[in-house]
Amino acid sequence: MTTSLNELETQLAALKEEATKAIATADTLDQVEQLRVKYLGKKGQLSQVLGGMGKLPAEDRPRIGASANEVKNLLQDNIEQKRKDLQDALIQAQLEAETLDVTMPAVYRPQGRMHPLNSTIDRVVDIFVGLGYTVATGPEMETDYYNFEALNTPPDHPARDMQDTFYLPDGNLLRTHTSSVQIRYMENNDPPIRIVAPGRCYRRDTIDASHSAVFHQLEILAVDEGLTFTDLKGTIKVFLEELFGEELPIRFRASYFPFTEPSAEVDVQWKGKWLEVMGCGMVDPNVFKSVGYDPEVYTGFAAGFGVERLALVLHEIDDIRRLYNSDLRFLQQF
Ligand code: DAH
Repeated sequence: MTTSLNELETQLAALKEEATKAIATADTLDQVEQLRVKYLGKKGQLSQVLGGMGKLPAEDRPRIGASANEVKNLLQDNIEQKRKDLQDALIQAQLEAETLDVTMPAVYRPQGRMHPLNSTIDRVVDIFVGLGYTVATGPEMETDYYNFEALNTPPDHPARDMQDTFYLPDGNLLRTHTSSVQIRYMENNDPPIRIVAPGRCYRRDTIDASHSAVFHQLEILAVDEGLTFTDLKGTIKVFLEELFGEELPIRFRASYFPFTEPSAEVDVQWKGKWLEVMGCGMVDPNVFKSVGYDPEVYTGFAAGFGVERLALVLHEIDDIRRLYNSDLRFLQQF
């Protein structure tokens, strides 16, 4: 059987057309590879067509050989191009799948916040630490001695009537103020002293919008040689300006506390009203005697204030009870 040049050229043309279409419609790299084997492989269709070349007259062979090479190059190019296109598409798809959309809303996780009482304590402590003070603490269950007696408040002193105290069956009590920390600290430390003492206090108060049986105070105490009322005033002024963030009018009113002499109460002008924010004074010599300090050598000043009162003012809260109710609608505002 002879094969004519025409026949081979027809076969080549058919092969070219079929293979070109098949390659164009392939849509996976596997399919492309299968097509390569099918058309260009050792036992592929192109080889089979070329197998017929041997039966052609010698002078026809170069022509058909050239045509076959053309087809082969064309199919190879198409396959290469197709591979590249499919690979690019794969990379593109992967890039799209892995792209982060930074404009997407984040997954919301509820976040805890500082309680306004704690943040108020932190702010005050920060201010005094900035002035060189050290934080001191003491127990909430106190003895009569630390809460009253050492603070120049003897058993029959009228000041005890000012504070309705929770007495415990064993004779101890729940401290009515943080002033007890003054005594404990001075017993264990020598002057010079500068402390700020935050803590919880207890009084037999009927609960209402401005009173709570459990509340918080911050105490400060400074003891050194030569401290005067001017140092007290300056310290309080700097503190209140730092806390309220502006130069507020403040005034000192003469007052009475058993553990200070002279004593004063401090008011700040807040929204057009004078508001009492703390008690203070020069440490009474009898208090120094009870801790073994020589009142002829040392003087000192002390102050104590209610954290709740400061928090109400700073955050414009109308009722002290909101600070204890754990109502999330309230707490989430801070
Ligand atoms: N302890 C007083 C109270 O609870 C407040 C106070 C007044 C503290 C004068 C002081 C002070 O340190 O010097 O009402």
